[in-house]
Amino acid sequence: MCGIVGYIGNDNGIEVVFNGLVRLEYRGYDSVGIGFKENGKIKTIKSVGRIQKSDVAPGMPNLEEKLKEDGKFKFSSHIVIGHTRWATHGAPNERNAHPHVSMSGRFAIVHNGIIENYYTLKKELESKGYKFASETDSEVIAHLIDYFYDSDFLEAVKKTLTKLNGAYSFLVISQKDDVLIGTKKGSPLCVGIGDNEIIISSDEMPFVDRTKKVIYLSDNELVVAQFNGKYDVKSFEGINIEKEIKEVPYDIEAITKGGYKHFMLKEIHEQSMTVKNTFISRVDHIDTMLRDNFPNLPRNINRVIYLGCGTSLYAGMVGMYITERYAHVPSRAEYASEFIYRDPVIFRNDVCIAVSQSGETADTKEALRIVKGKGAYISGIVNTVGSQIARLAGRGMYLHAGPEIGVASTKAFTSQIIAINLFNMLLIDNNSYKQEMINEMKKLPMKIGEVFDTEDYIKDITPEIAKYKSFLYLGRDINYPVALEGALKMKEIAYIHAEGYSSGEMKHGPIALVDENMLSVFIITGEKKIYQKTLNNLIEIKARKGNVLVITDNVGEVKKYLDNDDYVVRVPCTIPQLSPIINIIPLQLLAYYVADYLGREIDKPRNLAKSVTVE
Ligand code: F6R
Repeated sequence: MCGIVGYIGNDNGIEVVFNGLVRLEYRGYDSVGIGFKENGKIKTIKSVGRIQKSDVAPGMPNLEEKLKEDGKFKFSSHIVIGHTRWATHGAPNERNAHPHVSMSGRFAIVHNGIIENYYTLKKELESKGYKFASETDSEVIAHLIDYFYDSDFLEAVKKTLTKLNGAYSFLVISQKDDVLIGTKKGSPLCVGIGDNEIIISSDEMPFVDRTKKVIYLSDNELVVAQFNGKYDVKSFEGINIEKEIKEVPYDIEAITKGGYKHFMLKEIHEQSMTVKNTFISRVDHIDTMLRDNFPNLPRNINRVIYLGCGTSLYAGMVGMYITERYAHVPSRAEYASEFIYRDPVIFRNDVCIAVSQSGETADTKEALRIVKGKGAYISGIVNTVGSQIARLAGRGMYLHAGPEIGVASTKAFTSQIIAINLFNMLLIDNNSYKQEMINEMKKLPMKIGEVFDTEDYIKDITPEIAKYKSFLYLGRDINYPVALEGALKMKEIAYIHAEGYSSGEMKHGPIALVDENMLSVFIITGEKKIYQKTLNNLIEIKARKGNVLVITDNVGEVKKYLDNDDYVVRVPCTIPQLSPIINIIPLQLLAYYVADYLGREIDKPRNLAKSVTVE
């Protein structure tokens, strides 16, 4: 997730902003940049890769090397902005790194978030003669301010705000005016009030060593900071707002995890926002966007094949159900690690989609290379911009879910399911289907919020759940991959044996395992037919005195069959194609709290790596 920081004050702002960027590193980034005024002009200095390490290519200086000489900062400025970028629109390179400067050179901005209507704005600005230097959505902000500027900097920013849709926070400096303006809608921004200085940033990290006094901006507010620590907070319409000054309540270590005990828990909680980031800039011009993402898709698709490993493969399995049922195209999901060793039969009209969070998984990359060699249509659904799989695929969709730091994948899974649904809308020529899907996607962030109402209950039952020696996760149809993913989470972070199974297969073997040491975890949601069949399987387990935990959107029906030793978690209803997103969240929380109760190393479980780059 991008980070922004800006300084106005008497010290050397380059040093303050540089140190602030280092503190924002935990958010994950692939490029970095600083902008400041020098001799009446705005100057920017950018680099790809880490701020202080030369890890891009030998001889390519990092930001620190560009800014310092003999260990000292060689530039000095009192109004400075800086940015760590996690690429969303456009590859991670210096051209796309922030700050972005308006064509005239008069304004520079750093931006966090997504400008949903950037495409329309960009076309409008281009028709007025503005030339874009980057592929980012952010650059429209700098040009718009320039376009609206008529001797009043603040007015130009306010007019720009009326044009922007999306979630954003940004900082802007002007060549002529000695102020720093920051504004926010949907993305975080806070203002550190120091002695004769103001620091504005994505969180408190960049200034917590200089001041503990902070103002948290609300959406649709902006701050105009001046020298001597003066500032005004205003509404987007320009009305002055009195803000309460608060005390930063955390130490530095806690803030890096946003106050959460582990990155995994933070990432589980981010999902309302991350699923939205995957769909929001796409759904309003869905057909054009998708055609741009998947150009030259074959007319008569033979099969859609999802390729991946682990969690990503399970997202692909969800895709298989969606593609067959709603697009009526034959589909399969393949473990990349199996696929690459069995000389698969592939046809030219096969559409192969590599699904990967890291974009670096060796088996998935090799599978994609094989299908490419056989002439199939290839593409990727990937989180990490510019990763090897993304480059090899050459087309497809980025998740925009931000960096996933916890080794156990959580938010990538839910965003992958969104991306897979978006892809399938390209195959389904039915406007009412598309409209219903878009409507339901827009409701998802709120429904995900409702799932967290069950968190306290899950936390409370954890000591009892943690006593079980093994778990059988059972789901049918589109909930079968959810069962697999729920079991994977329990295995990898709690180190308890857990198995995902199709609930219809249960009586063909696993039912023999039912005893007091095993908990059966059922996912029972969705269409009546599927619901009823899975419920029948639950009744079979209860008849053998097994204990169950049920995730369901219809508690009333399920409760008839449960007794005091059983557990039930109610989730909101949605359409079946999106239900795995809702249903997996309680299972992520369950694995998390059991692992935490047992004292496991949650963010870095034993024997596991975040990306598996060997076959
Ligand atoms: C599970 C997990 C792994 C990954 C798998 C694929 O929590 O993290 O199973 O899903 O290694 O990784 P990516 O998605 O990076 O290709």
